[in-house]
Amino acid sequence: MSYQIDIHTTNQSRLNELDFANIPFGKVFSDHMFIADYRDGKWQNCRIEPYGRLSISPAMSGLHYGQEIFEGMKAFKDQEGNPQLFRPEMNVNRFNRSAKRMAMPDVPDELFLEAMKKLVALDKDWIPTGEESALYIRPFMFATDEYIGVQPSNTFRFIIFTCPVGAYYTKPVSVMVSEEYVRAFPGGVGDSKVAGNYGAAMMPYTVAKEHGYNQMLWMDGYEFKYVQEIGTMNVFFRIGDTFVTPSLDEKTILEGVTRDSVIELLRDKGYNVETRRVSIDEVLEAHQQGKLKDAFGTGTAATITHIVTIGYRGTDYELPPVEKREVSTQLKQDLQHIRTSKVSDSHNWVHKIQEEPLAVNK
Ligand code: COI
Repeated sequence: MSYQIDIHTTNQSRLNELDFANIPFGKVFSDHMFIADYRDGKWQNCRIEPYGRLSISPAMSGLHYGQEIFEGMKAFKDQEGNPQLFRPEMNVNRFNRSAKRMAMPDVPDELFLEAMKKLVALDKDWIPTGEESALYIRPFMFATDEYIGVQPSNTFRFIIFTCPVGAYYTKPVSVMVSEEYVRAFPGGVGDSKVAGNYGAAMMPYTVAKEHGYNQMLWMDGYEFKYVQEIGTMNVFFRIGDTFVTPSLDEKTILEGVTRDSVIELLRDKGYNVETRRVSIDEVLEAHQQGKLKDAFGTGTAATITHIVTIGYRGTDYELPPVEKREVSTQLKQDLQHIRTSKVSDSHNWVHKIQEEPLAVNK
C-alpha cells in the first residue's frame, strides 16, 4: 500500500541559527516534522509540515496513562554529502514490537520508512558532519483519545522530528550499581521503548547523581545480582579477551541496534563475544584479578561510551585508562566510518536515501 504524504514546507528556515561547530544534544530541532493520525483503524492525514507546537486536549489519554512509545535513530552524510540512514529497519521493527506490547497500532514499514526518508531528504542540510555528529531522528507515537477511563486508546498520533546532535555523553561515564530501584522485570516492558521506562528511572537517576555518578547500572529485580543495562545504553564488559554483554533472553533489556552492530564488528575482528547472564560479582571479581580490561555502554545516542568507574556498596572500582582501551575506541571509529561511508559497508547496514524531487505544497 502506498501512502500519500502531503508536504508543506516552511518559508522561514532556521538553519542559519545553527552553529555547526557547537551542537548540544537534543535542544535544536530541524525545520520540519512528519505527522500521521490513526483513526477508524487506519493511518491517515500523513503530512510533513514546519516543526512547531501541537494542540492537544488535557484529557488526552496518552498524557494520563503513558500509552507512548518512541525510537531513536540517526542520519548521516556519505563522503559525497548524500543523506543516509543506519539500519533503519531494526528501529522500525523494534518500534512495532513496542507498539504491540502497548496495545498500539503498527506503523507499516513502508509508511515509516517513506516518511523518514522524505523528512531527512527535505532537511538534509541540517545533517552535521563533525566527528561525533549526526542528525538524530525521534519517531514517537502516543494515544490521543479524549477519555480518562483506563483502556487502550482507539486513536493515536505518530510524529517524527529530527535534530542535529553532537555527542550525548561528552566524557566517559561513572555508574552506580542499583540495589534499591528496578528498571525491568520479566513480563514487564523492559525490552520495549516506552516512555514510562525512562520516567520511572528519573528519580534513581537523581540518586546516582547525588552520589556522584552519571547513571545507574540496573540489576535484575529478584536478586540485584545480574546486570541488565544502563537505561540510555546497553552494556559490555571485556574480561580477558572475551566481551560479555547481557543476553536478550529475559526480555528485560532493550535490543539495541548499536549493541547488535558492536557484537558483529567484534566477531568480525575475531573476538569472542558472549551474550549471557553476567553477575556484578563476576565483573568485580575480574576487576580484582586485573582481568576487567574494559566496560562500555552502547546506544544510538551514546554510540560507544566508556565506563570509567563502577560504584558498588560504597566502593568505587576504577577501570583501566581509556587510552588503553584500543579495541572499543577503534570500534567507535569503525562504526562512524561505516555510517558515513568512509569505509565499505560489508554488512549492508547503510540505507541510502535516494533523493527524488519532492512534490511540495508551500
Ligand atoms: C537513543 O539512544 O536513541 C535513546 O533513545 C536513548 C536516550 C537518548 C533516551
